[in-house]
Amino acid sequence: LDYRDMGGIVLPGMIDLHVHLRGLKLSYKEDEATSTRAAAASGITLVADMPNTMPPLRSKSAIDAKLAALRRMSLVDYAVYAGVPDEPEEARGLAELPIAGFKVYPEDLEERRGTLRRIARLHKLLILHAEHPVALKSIVEAEDTRAAMRGCWAELAGLMEVLDLGPARLHVTHASCPSTVLAAKKVGATVDATPHHLFYSLRGSDCGWRVNPPLRSKAERLSMLKLLAEGMVDALASDHAPHLLRERIDPLSCSPGFAWLDSWPLLAACLVASGTLSLQDYARLTSLNPARILGIDSVYGSLQPGMRANIVVIKLERWHRPARIYSKGENPIENIIEVCAALKAVIVGGTLVYLDGEFTGEKPETVNAIEYASTYLASSSPP
Ligand code: NCD
Ligand code: ZN
Ligand code: ZN
Repeated sequence: LDYRDMGGIVLPGMIDLHVHLRGLKLSYKEDEATSTRAAAASGITLVADMPNTMPPLRSKSAIDAKLAALRRMSLVDYAVYAGVPDEPEEARGLAELPIAGFKVYPEDLEERRGTLRRIARLHKLLILHAEHPVALKSIVEAEDTRAAMRGCWAELAGLMEVLDLGPARLHVTHASCPSTVLAAKKVGATVDATPHHLFYSLRGSDCGWRVNPPLRSKAERLSMLKLLAEGMVDALASDHAPHLLRERIDPLSCSPGFAWLDSWPLLAACLVASGTLSLQDYARLTSLNPARILGIDSVYGSLQPGMRANIVVIKLERWHRPARIYSKGENPIENIIEVCAALKAVIVGGTLVYLDGEFTGEKPETVNAIEYASTYLASSSPP
């Protein structure tokens, strides 16, 4: 089946589980308006923001401010992950908030003793007291491929099981090599991979190629693609990490990461055009599974009746550069934004926001997906 001959193809809006929208004091790099505009222009209708902001999203006040900024500025639906709080009192404050879960950084596991136990307990606390019944899930960095760190995942998965939370409460993000994917699966976690680890291999050590975790060898990259095709990877997530060009040049002060929101779903569509993935695989990796991982698949991630109307129409095409870039993030790598699909239409919450390469100017009513899903999950009875 050659999808290139089929004209427009309808898909559930893409969901990106791992983005850094920046904002607040880092708005010079990117903000909630520019990043979500970029997202919409590549077919992403829901983004999950990470807590390494300034200030970090580890307290109720910081998360309240973040959610208010998103409410005001986001052109697509959103979810927010909280950082692991230092104080138990802060944790109780977080329990009232509609967050997607916790983001656990390697430093959390390495430096702060007792963190694992605290993370597991936080989960229990949130699940017991949270006002939203959506399944919370912690998302762990696969940054570090050392065996010790993977031991931590196993321990965390074990603790969650002891607390009756189940190992499926763990998601391992930005797996860069096959051994990480397998280690995540071994502890019952779900796992995502980024476009850069699937499309680019390591070429020298200059700042322009730097990202966390680092790009790997070509052999490892090809094995990652194989695992992806075999269904071992649950989701694609971009780790959109925008920086300015001047921060991506000096090897001594080099900020790692690529800006992806303008392009990655349209680049990933090349895997469909080349026959590596079926269109069903693509929809599962970019929408259905991310919705399941967020625990919101009752209303997101597929085109069933009753789903929130986040819908995109794409058309597979020859390789080309998108006509416009909306993110403030500047990539030092030229060809990172080449794609082989075009967007015909993007609908967010029932509003047509993008049509044939142009924004329509209509402002959709965007929502916190966790809040939205819990409202409709709570009020709908199973058929
Ligand atoms: C991320 C960023 O810039 O926020 N950079 C990256 O290379 N992935 C931080 C991180 O996730 O390590
Ligand atoms: Zn990271
Ligand atoms: Zn990240």
